[in-house]
Amino acid sequence: MISITIPLSILLTILLQSTVSCHPLDPLTPQEINKVKLIIHNSHLFSSSNLTFHYVDLEEPKKHQVLKWRSSHKQKEPFPTRRAKVVIRTNGETHELVIDLIKSSIVSNEVHKGHGFPPFTFNELFQASRLSLKHPKFQDSILKRGLNLPEVSCLPLSTGWFGEVVRTRVVRVTCFYRGGTSNIWARPIEGISLLVDVEKLKVIKYMDRLKAPLPKIEGTDFQSQRPNSVFCKGNNSKISINGHEVTWANWKFHVAFNARAGVILSTASIFDALKKKFRHVLYRGHVSETFVPYMDPSPEWYYRTFMDVGEFGFGRSASSLVPRVDCPENAVYMDGYMAGADGEVQKIERAICVFESHAGNIAWRHTEIGVPGKVIISGEPEINLVVRMVATVGNYDYVLDWEFKQSGSIKVGVSLTGVLEMKASNYTNTNQTTHDNNIYGTLVTENTIANNHDHFLTYHLDLDIDGTENSLVKANLKTFRTNPKNMISPRRSFWKVVRETVKTESEARIQVGLKPVEILITNPNKKTRIGNYVSYKLISGKPVISLLDDDDYPQIRASYSKYPVWVTCYNETERWAGGFYADRSRGDDGLAVWSRR
Ligand SMILES: *[C@@H]1O[C@H](CO)[C@@H](O)[C@H](O)[C@H]1NC(C)=O
Ligand SMILES: *[C@@H]1O[C@H](CO)[C@@H](O)[C@H](O)[C@H]1NC(C)=O
Ligand SMILES: *[C@@H]1O[C@H](CO)[C@@H](O)[C@H](O)[C@H]1NC(C)=O
Ligand SMILES: *[C@@H]1O[C@H](CO)[C@@H](O)[C@H](O)[C@H]1NC(C)=O
Ligand SMILES: *[C@@H]1O[C@H](CO)[C@@H](O)[C@H](O)[C@H]1NC(C)=O
Repeated sequence: MISITIPLSILLTILLQSTVSCHPLDPLTPQEINKVKLIIHNSHLFSSSNLTFHYVDLEEPKKHQVLKWRSSHKQKEPFPTRRAKVVIRTNGETHELVIDLIKSSIVSNEVHKGHGFPPFTFNELFQASRLSLKHPKFQDSILKRGLNLPEVSCLPLSTGWFGEVVRTRVVRVTCFYRGGTSNIWARPIEGISLLVDVEKLKVIKYMDRLKAPLPKIEGTDFQSQRPNSVFCKGNNSKISINGHEVTWANWKFHVAFNARAGVILSTASIFDALKKKFRHVLYRGHVSETFVPYMDPSPEWYYRTFMDVGEFGFGRSASSLVPRVDCPENAVYMDGYMAGADGEVQKIERAICVFESHAGNIAWRHTEIGVPGKVIISGEPEINLVVRMVATVGNYDYVLDWEFKQSGSIKVGVSLTGVLEMKASNYTNTNQTTHDNNIYGTLVTENTIANNHDHFLTYHLDLDIDGTENSLVKANLKTFRTNPKNMISPRRSFWKVVRETVKTESEARIQVGLKPVEILITNPNKKTRIGNYVSYKLISGKPVISLLDDDDYPQIRASYSKYPVWVTCYNETERWAGGFYADRSRGDDGLAVWSRR
């Protein structure tokens, strides 16, 4: 597994969300999600009045079984097993269930005894905000500030872990004043903070510590005039989508969706025109975790150290894509399904789009003037296939792209948009702030500071380069001296590639950019016609690592952010870099722990 922080020409098939799943990695269908709820209720194991669903996803079959099915003639038949993994909360306990959807039975039911909690449900977040607005002390504070309660919006934030004993699932609520703007983030009501128990539905701590002026409303609105969109399923004769399988140019891959990761790409293979067969590249890839620590240690801000994928879910936060704004005209769309807090299926229309991108780049070119009497000009435009989703987590919108190139490359990219999370302040000009050490960001307009913070996005990539048995090879570019006694060359130095196959997981934590090293995923059992190992190269963007100290609590929880690349031995359960139970986690599950083995 690699985690990296970085930033089809067949038939026209209009996408139909098939109700019967065919591929073993197909996401749970709406019928299957509802069936999960029914099986759990019919089991009478839990009192149904006090049960919330926090995670309902496909329990994937073993990789070797999936690969066997794919390479056999049975591909047209449904996969014989179909299971769901479910996490529920009931009576203060977290239960992990595996459900057999064909036999309609509960295969296992275990109580999670470790640290950390499952993701919040939307209902919990909604209730926490409602409860805060109704809290008498809060209402007093709003009145004292001369503000109008119906114009207040409250937002629940995860609270992290800072060494305390954790017994309850809580959120911290922070509030904003709309007063006519849609940009609530621009008008924080600074100094007020509530701690809410999301299960007992009680405010357990209230704080109104200091006052800062409410930033002005002028110029805060961000709404743009949207083009008049006609929502259609889309239409593209070069992309073929059959169920969840996409075929385009020389690529074939599977696209799934779940509440935690959002888009999941799997079983991607590329057609080899010489061998006349598809060759494997990627078994599975998806966003594994995000880490967004803010750098303001004050009581209202210190805890803002979000791990959005595990605490809230990128799929749960997926936006319905707007044709011609979020995706171009030639895009085709896929809907996403997941379970709500009550276990009922919820649909996100147009959660994913797939489109051909003609970005105006050159795939390859050459002008040859060495042939007498001729100028040979040749080249091709770069035409790629993009799979996109947008996760809107609070104030930020992450645009997540997987770009498949006909050269065989896959480019994983994310762009960030939305609005800043801001702090109210007394200052109206930067010249007033020079002697204040308690400023942790930039004054962006009067009375408004944008606090410093990071966004780390970590991807899980299970590469299968031409087969499942792969090695990690570091190709070091090493400088050598020429032999002075050998008078053949006047040169004194040159570099050569010195390859080194990595033997342990600790050697496979890689600081990118410090030394001239290329990272290769190689199949040691497959050679090209002329004897080179079949490999893919991991090309990093600007490598980033966390600057927090190792003993700082958020860093303990997201310790994987100290290296941009980690490679670990295959283990099907190890997909979530910050651990499976990320809310209030303590760093005892996740990449850093697995890698220490
Ligand atoms: C539900 O569970 C909570 C603990 O999370 C408990 O306090 C409450 O009494 C339970 N309610 C019912 C109706 O069983
Ligand atoms: C802003 O100024 C007021 C009045 O001087 C003061 O009471 C308040 O504490 C100040 N707020 C902050 C955040 O410094
Ligand atoms: C798809 O495109 C073709 C030609 O551009 C058009 O005739 C057809 O109506 C389109 N289908 C849909 C479903 O939009
Ligand atoms: C700070 O800048 C403002 C606006 O340019 C100006 O009016 C004010 O005199 C400056 N104050 C100081 C102390 O430089
Ligand atoms: C796979 O990972 C899990 C969780 O980290 C661990 O408990 C298990 O022992 C691992 N299995 C193997 C074969 O290493």
